Amino acid sequence: MLERAKRGVLNLARRVGYEILKQSDPRLSAANFREMPEPPASALDRALDTLRDYAGDEHAAARIFDAVLNAAVAPQHHSLFWGDRLLTLDKSAAFRDDPHFAAAMRGVNSDTGATQYASPDGISWRLNTLVWAARAALHVPGDFVECGVYKGDMSWVITELVDLAGAQRSFYLYDTFEGFSPKYSSEDDFPLAPQFFHSADRGYNVPRLYNSVCERFAGKSYVKVIKGIVPDIVSEISPDRIAFMHIDMNSAAPEVGALELLFERVSLGGMVIFDDYGWFLHKKQKDAEDRFMAEHGQEILELPTGQGLLIKR
Ligand SMILES: C[S@@+](CC[C@H](N)C(=O)[O-])C[C@H]1O[C@@H](n2cnc3c(N)ncnc32)[C@H](O)[C@@H]1O
Repeated sequence: MLERAKRGVLNLARRVGYEILKQSDPRLSAANFREMPEPPASALDRALDTLRDYAGDEHAAARIFDAVLNAAVAPQHHSLFWGDRLLTLDKSAAFRDDPHFAAAMRGVNSDTGATQYASPDGISWRLNTLVWAARAALHVPGDFVECGVYKGDMSWVITELVDLAGAQRSFYLYDTFEGFSPKYSSEDDFPLAPQFFHSADRGYNVPRLYNSVCERFAGKSYVKVIKGIVPDIVSEISPDRIAFMHIDMNSAAPEVGALELLFERVSLGGMVIFDDYGWFLHKKQKDAEDRFMAEHGQEILELPTGQGLLIKR
């Protein structure tokens, strides 16, 4: 009896909620649903047959996916985020509306080299995580660190949107600026795709990379661009106290090596972001970092962006 009454109240609440929602969204009205007849099963089957014909080619499959997303899915939703292999429907992703964020985004390249999809929102959600963490890190003592800098895009966005100079924080940027170090990294980092090690390494070897990153940050004197192999170079030059650490070397051994040297210097409440933590191809990094954190009584949160987030406790 009590159960039936509870169910009745719940159903009533659902109906009232739905009626309210309908008033704000004409697409939910029953009349609209009736206007559009279901497509005949044979038409759907024919469409699916056509899709299957192209499914073997990843570029053709991606084009079909994007076309369906734009033509049939997007019009049914209030908002769509699509970029960096992350798709969300009806979420705010409100950072996109911030003109300062949009301006900073224009200064970086969102092409991760790993997307055949349209990816209109690029890596903006990853960047938003970094900016949020960097702002939060200003509330605890310490400097900022990035291991794995490449052209400096992510650190650039942080410096554009977070007032590190005003907070008197230095930003230490570590990279070989010549790709992976054979001392710490190899094909074995990527058992699912050993060729990724070579293609990524070729991509990292950009002529004059160190010089161009120094030039890029020349007007920001609190940024220290440091050329060397992590973790070795960290033993020579590094801050005593850390509020924010971004780890993005795409390889387990140097990433854990950096943690072994620096994690104890991260302030309580300090932020550690792992760029590749949740990506399938980078499982070795995730496993090694989870082990390290378990030994230190900590736990990393996997984000839908592929990043890992840790707030030191
Ligand atoms: C994915 S990229 C970093 C991307 C960068 N965070 C950005 O904002 O675009 C990885 C970088 O890690 C660097 N790297 C890899 N192993 C390293 C090591 N042991 N020591 C220093 N840098 C390393 C590579 O040279 C490469 O530039």
